[in-house]
Amino acid sequence: MEQLKQRIIQEGVVVNNQVLKLDGLINHQVDPELTMEMGREFAERYRERGVTRIVTVESSGIAVAFAAAYELKVPLVFARRKKTLLADPDAYCERVPSFTKGIVTDIMISREFIKEDDRILFIDDIIANGDAARAVIKIIQRAGAELVGFGVIVEKCFQSGADSIRELGVEVESLVKISSLENGTVQFAD
Ligand code: G4P
Ligand code: NA
Ligand code: NA
Repeated sequence: MEQLKQRIIQEGVVVNNQVLKLDGLINHQVDPELTMEMGREFAERYRERGVTRIVTVESSGIAVAFAAAYELKVPLVFARRKKTLLADPDAYCERVPSFTKGIVTDIMISREFIKEDDRILFIDDIIANGDAARAVIKIIQRAGAELVGFGVIVEKCFQSGADSIRELGVEVESLVKISSLENGTVQFAD
């Protein structure tokens, strides 16, 4: 997505070889025009696939997932992150270790909002190692729903998350692919 590449070049901040700060576009401030455009792009890629719900994880995935859901006219479900409490029998819950944050969180979706006959499009903002994403996929599978695809705004190809999900047989669509952040420069894969 050319427009997004340009915005990343202009406004992204390369923090180090692993991390690209996108606070002005995605992770702290949201640009409504760009976000709706990204949502339309995901919607175009999945329009003929019979999607019944979109799923994301709070918080940064919500805006773009909403934009896609609005285009496809389906509900958006955002998985909640909870401090570990007692097991909730009414929810699917997966524990995720975060290497970046050094903590463990539980990701949960109520059984009310994910059903066996659902065809789910999973959308997220940036994929690095993909631990949280794999947890969401596990929940979708446990619910017996069909995972139609996984759309991510930014895929960092030099980290293993997106490929590990492709290896599960999931179709992954990225709006931009970044192959390197070395020397303070964003290199796109295509
Ligand atoms: P992990 O396995 O190392 O924890 O990586 P994962 O892909 O699960 O990403 C962990 C969190 O870090 C995610 O946000 C992800 O979007 C964010 N992240 C990873 N790499 C980058 C990066 O280069 N730039 C930015 N801006 N974010 C990055 P999250 O925990 O889901 O938080 P939220 O943003 O949704 O609130
Ligand atoms: Na994020
Ligand atoms: Na996210």
